[in-house]
This record gives sequence, structure tokens and C-alpha cells, in this order.
Amino acid sequence: MADSRETNSGGSSSSDNKVVGVRRLKESMAKPASTRIFTVANQKGGVGKTTTTVNIAAALSMGGLRVLVIDLDPQGNASTALGVPHRDIAGIYDVLMGDEPITSVVQKVAGFPSLDCIPSNSSLANAEVNLVSMVARELRLKEALVEISPNYDYIFIDCPPSLGLLTINALAAARELLIPIQTEYYALEGLSQLLETYGIVKKRLNANLELSTIVLTMFDGRTRLSNDVAANVRSHFPNELIDIPIPRAVRVSEAPSYNQTVMTYDPLSPGAIAYMQVAREIAERGKPKDEINFDSNVVNINYKRDGEIA
Ligand SMILES: Nc1ncnc2c1ncn2[C@@H]1O[C@H](COP(=O)(O)OP(=O)(O)OP(=O)(O)O)[C@@H](O)[C@H]1O
Ligand SMILES: [Mg+2]
Repeated sequence: MADSRETNSGGSSSSDNKVVGVRRLKESMAKPASTRIFTVANQKGGVGKTTTTVNIAAALSMGGLRVLVIDLDPQGNASTALGVPHRDIAGIYDVLMGDEPITSVVQKVAGFPSLDCIPSNSSLANAEVNLVSMVARELRLKEALVEISPNYDYIFIDCPPSLGLLTINALAAARELLIPIQTEYYALEGLSQLLETYGIVKKRLNANLELSTIVLTMFDGRTRLSNDVAANVRSHFPNELIDIPIPRAVRVSEAPSYNQTVMTYDPLSPGAIAYMQVAREIAERGKPKDEINFDSNVVNINYKRDGEIA
């Protein structure tokens, strides 16, 4: 990661549990024309949803973009990994219930120039039940986001491992679906159910939703299995797949126990480098159209006589 620099003194050694200083890349990342809202979903548990959410969000923030992570999982793993308090305070649950304005539950993430988090809390476990009787129960998150989404370039919603009302709310609120796929034997099992839910939400609730991004996680290039899964996903989703797999790497799994992302915990480790590359690729794909393929060599102005432009 040649372009990673710390702008402030400080930083953290692996034994710190606090991030000191602000990390920013020397070379910034492309800003999208409008806010890109991603739902990170896969109802299979433990495939790397949260790890992918927090590390891509952190990397984009280091690239100079304004990023918000919404922890929509009662487990609160994204809140933990980003080091924001979340146990006994108001969070996304209170917003969904209409008890708190969304602006009052946004927290800053230490160590990043522009990374915010709306934490989960334990009450979120009641949301699936309590939402059922509410008016427009699938659209609560979408409606809440209207007020703050213009403040960000990227919003990532980390979903629980289920296709219940919380995930439906996330799919209804997002423009893009990001599916992390773990490169292991049952990787594609259950994907059809997720794609079916995606299709229903797109048809009934959110015609703008697109499955735009697939990220391979816990990849082990030495095994035939990882390579076979990658080839299989590539053949089904050639445009959606980001062809930079995230390696299985111990530093990635250690980082949350220090309330950090791997981007600060060990920025030069293979996992951090891969997440940085994936984030840059996501930002490149989201560039405003007129910035893509711009080549100054093909701009050709023919001058007529008298300085008049043809
Ligand atoms: N690239 C990686 N290398 C090593 N371990 C990883 C990697 N990615 C994730 N893990 C570990 O795998 C476990 C599951 O990851 P994670 O919590 O991100 O999955 P998840 O899909 O969010 O899980 P859940 O379905 O419970 O929300 C965690 O212990 C995490 O630290
Ligand atoms: Mg998770």
C-alpha cells in the first residue's frame, strides 16, 4: 500500500486499543456524483459482512470521502469494530421505532477524518417483532435516511444474517447491494434465496436497487476450493465481482478485539491492502460518468480563421 500515509503523528501499535491520530491516504479516492447507499447482506452467518463493511468504509474515509456505517445487526459487531459505544445508548433501533431523530444517534469514529457510525444496541433484537405492526414497516430506515444521506458520499448498512424485516429495511433504503461471499464449500448455498429477496424488494419496494458488487472473502489462493469458488462466482457475476479477493488473514480477525478496523490495526498487512484495493475499485466504479475514460489526447479543438472555434 505505497500510498498510505499518516497525516498526524501518532498512529497505533498492535497492542493499543485506541486509535491515535487521523489516517488519510496521499492519493484521494473518486467522489461519486451523489450518495451511494450500499446494503451489505448475505443471510449466511460469518461470511465477512461486518468485516467487509467496516474495512471498506474505513478505507474510503482514508481516501477522503465522507462515510457512514449503519449497524443494523443486533450483535453490534460493526459498532464494536469501529470502537463506538453501543450497549446502553440510543441507536438505530430507536430511530426505526420513531423515538429518536437520526441525527441524534450518529457517532464519530476515532482515527478517521470523516467516518461516522450509527450503532446498533441490544434492543435492536426486538425490532423484527416490534416493526411488524408499524405503518410502512419496510420503509422505516429509508425514510429516516432522507435527512442525513446528503451529508455523505457513501453509506454502508451492515445486515444481520437473516432475511427478516431489518434486512428488508436495508434493501429498501439502499441503491446498491453488496454481497460478500466466503470462498468455501457452501459459499453459493443460500445465494438463490438472497437473490429472490432482492428481486422481490426491487419489484415491490425499491426499483432503484441494483446488485452492483460482490466481494470474495477469506480467500486462500493455495487451495483449489477457493479458486474454484472464485471461478464459479466470476462466471455467474462477471460485472459485479470485484476481482481482488480478500485473503484469509489473521490480522483481519484480530482487529475487532482491539475495537479497530484492520486499516488502522495493521495497515500494511495483506488483508488491509486488499480491502484498500477493493475500496478504490468501488470508488472508481462509482465515478461520475463524465470522469470515466476521459482522455485529454482525444480532445481536439479545430480553430478556424479569426480565432473562431469550429
Ligand atoms: N479475511 C479474513 N481473514 C480472517 N478472518 C476473517 C476474515 N474476514 C472475516 N474474518 C473473521 O470471520 C468471522 C466472521 O466475520 P464477520 O463477523 O465479518 O462475518 P458476518 O457475515 O458479519 O457474520 P454475521 O453473519 O454473524 O454477522 C469473524 O471472526 C471475523 O473476524
Ligand atoms: Mg456481521
